[in-house]
Amino acid sequence: MKATTAALLLAFFAAVDARPAVDTRYPYKGPAVPIGDWVDNTINGNGKGFPRLVEPPAVKPATSHPTNNVNVISLSYLPEGIHIHYQTPFGLGEAPSVKWGTNPRHLNKHTSGHSHTYDRTPSCSQIKAITQCSQFFHEVSLDHLESGTTYYYQIPAANGTTQSEVLSFKTAQKAGDPKEFTVAVLNDMGYTNAQGTHKYLTQAANEGAAFAWHGGDISYADDWSSGIMPCEDDWPVCYNGTSSELPGGVITNQYKKPLPKGEVPDQGGPQGGDMSSLYESNWDLWQQWVGNVTKKIPYMVLPGNHEAACAEFDGPGNVLTAYLNDDIANGTAPKDNLTYYSCPPSQRNFTAFQHRFYMPGAETGGVGNFWYSFDYGLAHFVSIDGETDFAYSPEWSFAEDVSGDETMPTESETFITDSGPFGAVEGSVKDTKSYAQYKWLKKDLASVDRKKTPWVIVMSHRPMYSSAYSSYMKDIRAAFEGLLLEYGVDAYISGHIHWYERLYPLGTNGTIDTASIVNKNTYHTNAGTSMTHIINGMAGNIESHSEFSSGEGLTNITAVLNTKEYGFSKMTVVNSTALKWEYVRGNDGSAGDSLWLIKPDSECKSHGKKPSPHHGEHGGKPSPHHGEKSHPVV
Ligand SMILES: [Fe+2]
Repeated sequence: MKATTAALLLAFFAAVDARPAVDTRYPYKGPAVPIGDWVDNTINGNGKGFPRLVEPPAVKPATSHPTNNVNVISLSYLPEGIHIHYQTPFGLGEAPSVKWGTNPRHLNKHTSGHSHTYDRTPSCSQIKAITQCSQFFHEVSLDHLESGTTYYYQIPAANGTTQSEVLSFKTAQKAGDPKEFTVAVLNDMGYTNAQGTHKYLTQAANEGAAFAWHGGDISYADDWSSGIMPCEDDWPVCYNGTSSELPGGVITNQYKKPLPKGEVPDQGGPQGGDMSSLYESNWDLWQQWVGNVTKKIPYMVLPGNHEAACAEFDGPGNVLTAYLNDDIANGTAPKDNLTYYSCPPSQRNFTAFQHRFYMPGAETGGVGNFWYSFDYGLAHFVSIDGETDFAYSPEWSFAEDVSGDETMPTESETFITDSGPFGAVEGSVKDTKSYAQYKWLKKDLASVDRKKTPWVIVMSHRPMYSSAYSSYMKDIRAAFEGLLLEYGVDAYISGHIHWYERLYPLGTNGTIDTASIVNKNTYHTNAGTSMTHIINGMAGNIESHSEFSSGEGLTNITAVLNTKEYGFSKMTVVNSTALKWEYVRGNDGSAGDSLWLIKPDSECKSHGKKPSPHHGEHGGKPSPHHGEKSHPVV
């Protein structure tokens, strides 16, 4: 398809659904196609091969030279329904649709949806391997389905796409259905170091996991910037031509296979890759890589810091600032001055994340992919946004940059990951109760029928506690911990720190609820007093594992810490009083940790909310934003 046609379709669909608001008051002054999006079809590597990072597209094209292709399909839950999201390089020329039914040989229902797009760089019209490029995103909602039922579906051909094979999904078990089920829970999964996670995650999907729940930091597309950064002792993630050493992890044979002709290289590897970590292509290929999971079971996501913008910090010499702010290649800048306007508009404000997934925010009173909830059998699952939309959030909105009489911050007062708010803010931005997310969370938790869903599990990207303390933790605690305890949430899952850390059941101020510790691998739930915290950020990504800073070490809140292995976790809701959590090692699929959460008799009788003091511990003192180190290895 010619670029002009694509542009026309783009304009058409943009009018249909222009979703994220991206501020463009100040011009982006970097290269038209940022270095992180360069695609050189002549690249042949260094003779040692590129890592091949991609699974076949979701729909095999009819010819070897397709003019359009369905390359990603990703399912999610709706209340009493399923949402089918799919991606193509170009528009469909008609509303997207799905044929479906309970008989794979007789798909007697036909449902249409809507499409949206964004102005990615480079556009798919500039990429030859179009089965690996996504620029048009299609949404079809199937409502009023029977619970716990297998349905079959097929995406029809349109405008150069090939009809999909007949695929299937299973709807969620009805709230209160006592049947046991297992969920795959993962956080912080890019490509590098994640081969084992990918293998066992795919296996879990094939063996009947109900759904996957990915708590932010999805694909690490923004880490393309490592490709131009000089290496440092404490930052070995650099592919600047002087080093192409892969940090840690297992180097599989997959890395040694030459990249097939026409495929777009992704993150660099030990055998080659050069500066081949690309923002949009990384998104494209990562989504294809997990496609065998996302088209089979619902893949539920929530935002992490790596979804915010094109990059999040600069390196030595501020080469990124020179490049993005002033279009100077291989230069330096006097200081790190990455602002909101350092990224091209399509790479600000969680834009790719907003287009590349569809979560049931609107259908559950929440907002888009940012905060929402859903029931499955005996459990209520809540995804919340630990990046924006609460007081002192780590990615803050322009309102928090305003000073004096300003109504908007000046360009230089903004920061590269400024984002949101995605919900309404009524009142002070420094008071979490002003935020729609807080109000929604309170209402959502209050409305849970614990007789039907005795288990309530909440996840955001950021931990509230860890032996590795960062200042954002006190802010996320101040925002949400009181509510979660008040409403008897059983467990709070997070990632962001790239390791596995199971904490003891904790009350406010990190008080260990020793009475609820039955033994090393068993905790009692204690609604209103404590909840179990798990940091599950070990899926694997280009940044490798986290490490303690000097002077840090284990504190007494940590029951289990694994900083060496990659993997994900399986959570099994066994019955109304027993839940099993298991860490699955990526190297061999074995259990790296297991924990039973048991509801004691007393709690079962009184199911539901117990009164507890609401201790927000924020003292009203502004916290240092982005209160991490200059190299947040997270
Ligand atoms: Fe993170």
